[in-house]
This record gives sequence, structure tokens and C-alpha cells, in this order.
Amino acid sequence: MLIDTYGRVATDLRVSLTDRCNLRCTYCMPEEGLQWLTKPDLLTDDEIVRLVSIAVNDLGVTEVRFTGGEPLLRPGLVSVVERCAALERRPRMSLTTNGIGLKRTAAALKDVGLDRVNVSLDTLRPDVFKTLTRRDRHKDVLAGLEAAREAGLTPVKVNTVLMPGVNDDEAPELLAWAVANGYELRFIEQMPLDAQHGWKREGMITAGDILESLRTRFTLTPETDGERGSAPAERWLVDGGPHSVGVIASVTRPFCSACNRTRLTADGQIRNCLFATEETDLRAALRSDAPDEEIGRIWKLAMWGKKAGSGLDDPSFLQPDRPMSSIGG
Ligand code: GTP
Ligand code: 5AD
Ligand code: SF4
Repeated sequence: MLIDTYGRVATDLRVSLTDRCNLRCTYCMPEEGLQWLTKPDLLTDDEIVRLVSIAVNDLGVTEVRFTGGEPLLRPGLVSVVERCAALERRPRMSLTTNGIGLKRTAAALKDVGLDRVNVSLDTLRPDVFKTLTRRDRHKDVLAGLEAAREAGLTPVKVNTVLMPGVNDDEAPELLAWAVANGYELRFIEQMPLDAQHGWKREGMITAGDILESLRTRFTLTPETDGERGSAPAERWLVDGGPHSVGVIASVTRPFCSACNRTRLTADGQIRNCLFATEETDLRAALRSDAPDEEIGRIWKLAMWGKKAGSGLDDPSFLQPDRPMSSIGG
């Protein structure tokens, strides 16, 4: 079991498959991209499957989410999912993607055992999309979303980050669109994890702002089925249900006390928190032929050191060196 000193148990593993991306969202990375990891830095498909196998067979992990960068850029994705689905204790598996390329791969991913996808989409306006992501791929994302729904990778969740003066006027329109198309929309508060270190609390749209904007058009009632558990999203029923909308308020209403996550970066580092300032190197252990028990021991020790929270409210808060795109969100 991956337990920390506060008694939290990590049953949810996020695996970053690559730090690369085919978009350049302004709140994530600069136009020129980043200093990408090189091939020898990256875990191989075999190494990833071995670590997932240790996590689910020996360490109590039940949910695996593949992330990036953009995970669809990893050539071995379908095969990695297939091999993880064949593990003795098959984990539930999901993917967080920008949706480009999903049209091509959704059916294959479903076939090999992926359960569901979360797709990032910040705007319904193609021109705003182009400014925000610096790429003209809005249509591809919409097509990817549809393909995911048709393939049964459901519930399909849509992740949206609102920014002042860019897309913050779109919240009600986005929700109406999501409800009409059968997607579960979640708004995410922007976090200080951008590569440019340009985040400012004053420049952020808060959960409070989002709910106020949505309530101009919809009646929202808190979902009371008590199912939030360790999910980062708080959910509201839209106009009495059955559709709901979520808000992931990592900054103004952090959920750290219920966190059940452990993270593996594409270069084989364990991070016990999105905001961790230290990492634990599993790749070195893997490549020195350590047995499963030794890898499990190192992983447990890494989680034991998990801090109580993100530290975002501490005056001494320091943004982690690694940006979101390289941690895996
Ligand atoms: P679901 O199980 O589908 O609800 O997944 P999720 O919302 O945890 O995953 P997703 O990859 O879609 O992430 C949505 C947002 O939540 C992203 O901005 C993530 O960075 C953020 N997020 C995920 N895990 C954590 C976490 O442990 N802490 C914080 N602060 N944010 C997180
Ligand atoms: N703060 C909040 N969310 C972010 N994402 C990327 N960078 C940030 C950030 N700094 C979002 C993406 C995607 C999800 C995985 O995380 O838009 O929807
Ligand atoms: Fe790519 Fe996601 Fe970063 Fe946008 S937010 S550039 S989709 S990694």
C-alpha cells in the first residue's frame, strides 16, 4: 500500500507518457516549446508496463491515468494500454488528452481496454482556440471528442481553463454545448505550473467567478450523492439534473487532504504531489535490475514523504521546477 504520514492512501496512478505536445497553450508553454526529454531519458514501453504492474499487483493501485504532454503522441500508447489491461489485477484506465488524434485512435483504444477519456477544450470559438493554443486545430478536437463518445470511452469529460479577457465569457455557452453533446464539463482553476512562471493569483478565474457566471443561465445544486471521494472536481447538477458540471478548484478550495494520487513522469521519476519539489528516481532502480520488491520499497518511501498540501497558500511557496506538461497534470 502507498500510504503517507497523514494516512492518505494512493490508489490512483498518473503516468506521463511524453513531455511533448502538438499544441502550445499560452498558459502552459512558450511558442518555441520546451527542452524535450530525449529518447534515452524516457521510460520504454516495457519499463512503463513493469511499473504499472508493480503498482497494481503489489502496491494497491486500482486506477491508472495516462497523461502527457500529449499522450497520443506516444507511438506505443495502444500497446501499453493493451498490456496493462492484461495484468492480473486489471486497473481501470483513462486518458487525459488534447483530443487531436483521438478520431484516429478512439476505437482502437476502447478495443484494447481503455475505459474513458478526458479531453481539454477551452473554447468553442475557432479563432480563440487558435490564439490560445497557437495552432489551428479546433475542428480536430471536436472530431476527437465525438469519436471518443461514439467509441464508448464514456463518460467523456471536457476540461476547461478560463482566462480573463480570453474565454471567461464563454462558461454558460460551454456548459450548454456540453449538456447538448453528452459531455461532462469541468472548469479548472489555473495553477502556477506554467513553464513561463507567469501565473498570478490576481489573474486567475476562481471557482466563485465560474459559478457566478454559470448561474446567470442555469440553476446549480450541489451533487449530494457523496461520491466525490478523492475526485478533484466538485460537482453541481444542472437545472435539477441529470447532467452535471464540475469545478476543480485546486487554488481556492484545495482537496489535498483527500488526495489519493501518485505520479510517474515520462523519465521515470515518482512525484508524490503535483507541487512536490522533490522526486524519486525509479528509472535508475529499473535500469540497475532491481527486483520488484526493491522498486516497491522505493515507491512506498517516496509516498511516505508526501506533504500535507500543495503549499500554495504559504508565503514561502515556490513553483516546482517542472512544468505541468512534464509532470503530467
Ligand atoms: P477524473 O477521474 O476523470 O475526474 O480525473 P481528474 O480530474 O483527476 O484528471 P484530469 O487529468 O482530467 O485532470 C483535471 C485537472 O485536475 C488537471 O488540471 C489536473 O492537473 C488536475 N489535477 C489532477 N490531479 C490533481 C492533484 O492531485 N492535485 C491538483 N491540485 N490538481 C490535480
Ligand atoms: N493550471 C490548470 N490547468 C492546467 N492545464 C494545463 N496547465 C494548467 C494550469 N497551469 C490543464 C489542461 C488540461 C488539464 C490536464 O490540465 O488544460 O485540460
Ligand atoms: Fe499541451 Fe496540455 Fe500544455 Fe495545452 S495544456 S500545451 S494541450 S500539455
